[in-house]
Amino acid sequence: MAAVESLIDFAGASVMVTGASSGIGRETAILLSRLNATVILCGRNQARLEETRTQLAGEGHSIESCDLADGDRILPWFRSVMARSGPLKAMVHAAGKQLTVPLKFVTPKAADDQWRTNLQSSIMLARGFAEKGAHAPESSMVFISSVLGLGGKPALSVYGASKAALIGLAKSLAMELAPERIRVNCVAPGYVRTEMLEEMSGLWSPEQFEALVKAHPLGLGAARDVANAIAFLAADTGRWITGTTLVVDGGYTAQ
Ligand SMILES: NC(=O)c1ccc[n+]([C@@H]2O[C@H](COP(=O)([O-])OP(=O)(O)OC[C@H]3O[C@@H](n4cnc5c(N)ncnc54)[C@H](OP(=O)(O)O)[C@@H]3O)[C@@H](O)[C@H]2O)c1
Repeated sequence: MAAVESLIDFAGASVMVTGASSGIGRETAILLSRLNATVILCGRNQARLEETRTQLAGEGHSIESCDLADGDRILPWFRSVMARSGPLKAMVHAAGKQLTVPLKFVTPKAADDQWRTNLQSSIMLARGFAEKGAHAPESSMVFISSVLGLGGKPALSVYGASKAALIGLAKSLAMELAPERIRVNCVAPGYVRTEMLEEMSGLWSPEQFEALVKAHPLGLGAARDVANAIAFLAADTGRWITGTTLVVDGGYTAQ
């Protein structure tokens, strides 16, 4: 089978990747650069964004820091980035955080923070992307949902709700933006070995971790496994795909 690189080419195209300082976002930025994209790297941690930049292929990549939990700042920030960069072929919104907390300890502040980081940021980035001059003639957005947006787990209700909301958001945006030839899709990963998983696994016993690994018939994922699916949807390989969710989970939801 041909490697995904031989099917996809972003030559001459700019793409934005949020969450590019770590995990899935970083790996996606690296892959898209190897596919000849010029990448705008977004996150909060400047040093780690610089670290990502050193791993990119090609030239012309930039770093644009923003706290995406601050909904009021996103649109002005996005417009100023666009004024420097020109239209985007794709936006991959991989920034996100996971609130792991039993329902009885959930506070409005924590729920709001989860909501703003995972969902409101997606809405405001989409609003910016849809503006005139911000997107290329055939363009796409990819949001990173989760298998927890499709099925449940204790202590992850707020996170799961934010990820399920992204699936609904992508469907309606796909309908609204199809006349502009903007496609909107989600990728829903199973558990992937990134810093987020490391943080989560600190809350589990070795037996619980083993059970989680076993729940994935193909084992835990690597960030590159998710990046491959993102690249496919973001590029013209996904040109007839919109409003859908591609599950990338090593078989987690097949059972
Ligand atoms: N790992 C998994 O098992 C898994 C499974 C399903 C879905 N996902 C989803 O995949 C996405 C990426 O996860 P990951 O595992 O790669 O996580 P990660 O390694 O912890 O990376 C999270 C990224 O989000 C950025 N971020 C967090 N809060 C931000 C904010 N307020 N403003 C701007 N950037 C922010 C971080 O950048 P800074 O720290 O630089 O701000 C970092 O680059 C998330 O949406 C996550 O929910 C992950």
